[in-house]
Amino acid sequence: MKFFIDTADSREIRDLASTGLLDGVTTNPSLIAKTGRNMLEVISEICDLVEGPVSAEVTATDFETMLKEGEKLARLADNVAVKVPLTWAGLKTCKALSGQGIMVNVTLCFSAAQALLAAKAGASFISPFVGRLDDIATDGMALISEIRQIYDNYDSLATEILVASVRNPRHVVDAAKLGADVATLPPAVLKQLIAHPLTDRGLEAFLADWHKTGQAIL
Ligand code: G3P
Repeated sequence: MKFFIDTADSREIRDLASTGLLDGVTTNPSLIAKTGRNMLEVISEICDLVEGPVSAEVTATDFETMLKEGEKLARLADNVAVKVPLTWAGLKTCKALSGQGIMVNVTLCFSAAQALLAAKAGASFISPFVGRLDDIATDGMALISEIRQIYDNYDSLATEILVASVRNPRHVVDAAKLGADVATLPPAVLKQLIAHPLTDRGLEAFLADWHKTGQAIL
């Protein structure tokens, strides 16, 4: 399973990229707004920090402008994945950009029918928002399972399932069990993945015993 990081904070991305565990980055207009910086500068900077896909979202709602925005974003770097919303204009833009060999991430997916449309439009990634479904008392993971089943039925559908709106480590584990291709994690959730009190306690005990031996490996 690939791990993307869901932030536009380049300092945080630089820090986490140094673990060697980052396969890409996702941003959205809300995350860009949080930085208070110019979007084009931020995206170019992030594209230099990671080799994998960096999602940059269009903000127009009509096809013609969305396409122009997408083409402009794609020119920033080879690893830009243009993010478009799951609307008819977004799907048309997805079809046009993917036809030009540009990666497209179709976002704001809340149903299997939407995911099927995005795959048919040539999306590289579909982003189902599991946390926001859970928020309205709907099982977000059930959607991942449904999309996995549908995509696996057709070799012609090459779209990767990118689990978004991830809120906790359980979401990551459940998505991995279902065979999702990617999870995009807020930095806090990525850091939570490693935490276990028995690991901390076990290490403490090993080191205490080791120090008693008076030995050193180096
Ligand atoms: O990847 C989409 C994500 O940023 C949305 O997350 O927590 O705002 O639903 P959230």
